[in-house]
Amino acid sequence: MQAVVLGAAAGGAFPQWNSNGPGCRRARNGDPAAKPRSQASLAVSADGDHWFLLNASPDLRQQIEATPSLQPRSGLRSSPIAGVVLTGGDVDAIAGLLTLRERQRFGIYATARILSVLDDNPIFEVLGRDIVARHTVAPLTPCPLLRADGTHSGLSLELFPVPGKVPLYLEHGAAPPIVIGEDTVGAMISQDGRRLFFIPGCARMTPELADRLAGAELVFFDGTLYHDDEMIRAGLGEKTGRRMGHMSLAGPEGTLAAFAPLGVQRRVLIHINNSNPVLLDDSPEREAVTAAGWEVAFDGMEIRL
Ligand code: MLT
Ligand code: MN
Repeated sequence: MQAVVLGAAAGGAFPQWNSNGPGCRRARNGDPAAKPRSQASLAVSADGDHWFLLNASPDLRQQIEATPSLQPRSGLRSSPIAGVVLTGGDVDAIAGLLTLRERQRFGIYATARILSVLDDNPIFEVLGRDIVARHTVAPLTPCPLLRADGTHSGLSLELFPVPGKVPLYLEHGAAPPIVIGEDTVGAMISQDGRRLFFIPGCARMTPELADRLAGAELVFFDGTLYHDDEMIRAGLGEKTGRRMGHMSLAGPEGTLAAFAPLGVQRRVLIHINNSNPVLLDDSPEREAVTAAGWEVAFDGMEIRL
């Protein structure tokens, strides 16, 4: 299995258009220790010819142009992109679908709940249903990922619920509850017994999730914030990570502590918010996550499994 990180940052990217915070300033000034990153997405393939996107970020067009494997190779119109798997309905996970208009055949794979969000937004009808199939994926039920011609790609998908909340634009006033349902899921991609996990949003570690991930070969995990209150402390916003449905890296209930006993072979942070100091190559927080056995994803990172 091959995986390419198309984007490593959280919603808003790094630098974010309206952020003049210290990290974003460094990225904008071309500081080599503050590499820009686009919004979170991963591409996976069994054979290098047929690719599946895990989430379609608003930066998808530039991500395709930066990734030769995803560019047309034959005829006047074609694409190696055979499908898109969605792990949530937030803007940073679905807006890139609009980039994939132009009557190209591919499939969308998501829970019934996330597909209902697409169904409720008529702008997504720009992806004609006669050529872009919407596959309802029941949680905890493996299904094949299909090439555009309908044959098996060699990859299978299982979506599994993780703690999360409704998409930001579907919140109405008060803080929505953190639930374990179909709004926020993780994706497990398997090929011949090898398994890759993609979990860009997760509000807390549960015993079920810990069991599922124990001993895994490769996990891409929610690296949104380092400290739960870092956006408030930096004067960048009013929300904690918990309020946004993301667990943080630090602290007794944080990601570093939660993964310490799990024996995951390769751990990669993805969906990293522009306020998170792990984005800076020279920060003590980067040193701390590296010492804890984590890698920090960057755009263009390639992994073979
Ligand atoms: C999140 O991950 O919390 C969301 O992407 C927030 C957003 O949509 O801006
Ligand atoms: Mn997000």
